[in-house]
Amino acid sequence: MEVIIRPDEAAASHLVARLIARELRARPQLVLGLATGRTMEHVYEHLCRFHREEGLDFSLCRTFNLDEYIGLSPDDRQSYRFYMNERLFNRVNIDLRNTHLPNGLAVDLKAECQHYEDLIRDCGGIDLQLLGIGRSGHIGFNEPLSALRSRTRDKALTPDTIEQNAPMFGGDISRVPRRAITMGVGTIMESERCIVLATGASKAKIVAQAVEGPITSMITASALQLHGRCTVVVDEPAAAKLKGTEYYRWIFDNEPGWQEFR
Ligand code: GLP
Repeated sequence: MEVIIRPDEAAASHLVARLIARELRARPQLVLGLATGRTMEHVYEHLCRFHREEGLDFSLCRTFNLDEYIGLSPDDRQSYRFYMNERLFNRVNIDLRNTHLPNGLAVDLKAECQHYEDLIRDCGGIDLQLLGIGRSGHIGFNEPLSALRSRTRDKALTPDTIEQNAPMFGGDISRVPRRAITMGVGTIMESERCIVLATGASKAKIVAQAVEGPITSMITASALQLHGRCTVVVDEPAAAKLKGTEYYRWIFDNEPGWQEFR
């Protein structure tokens, strides 16, 4: 794992977008794992701009989102499909048939989850997985006590997550779905590379626990410590409770691979 600290949210999300753009230019058929949430909105803004201004090409790219609410249709404004179409897919030259999210309306959820796993496998696995982190330490919707080897499945959301996501539902907690389909921790861990983005003071405590604390299913993001190639990008407020910041900065300033991003 490596930790990159940027001065503010704008710089952190810009760095993540540039990392994605570099991978996509190098491998036009990239299989990209995508995340939702407020943090990612800035990343998608940058990617749309790279497409507009620099011709970043998504025509061969395949995508798999981490999760989707159960019970919301794709044209529901609060569904993650709607979020992705609005913020990225409809604004770049991606083929919508190459974009995948779990079907939150599936009658047979078990079959839908297996189908999602099969699709990922048939595409050769995820090359680059983008991740946010929830207040409960979740990646995707892998809430506390999710098995660290779990696969795509339906999952009940914690009261904390429901409260955290309520602003997307007009602040009305009763409108937030109680369940979601999410890639499992095991599914995420099989991605070739993971990039986590966390910004803002509200993420400082959970970032420190996930990065520097013990690996525990109580904080599923901590499983990423076992991942072979995981980059955590944070802004200064989200880095505030990390103990090793001096060392992380030293690596970023000295590692040749980061030169073009400094
Ligand atoms: C949701 C998503 C997560 C995301 C989290 C953080 O719970 N399922 O994938 O990481 O939100 O959201 P935000 O960026 O709004 O803090």
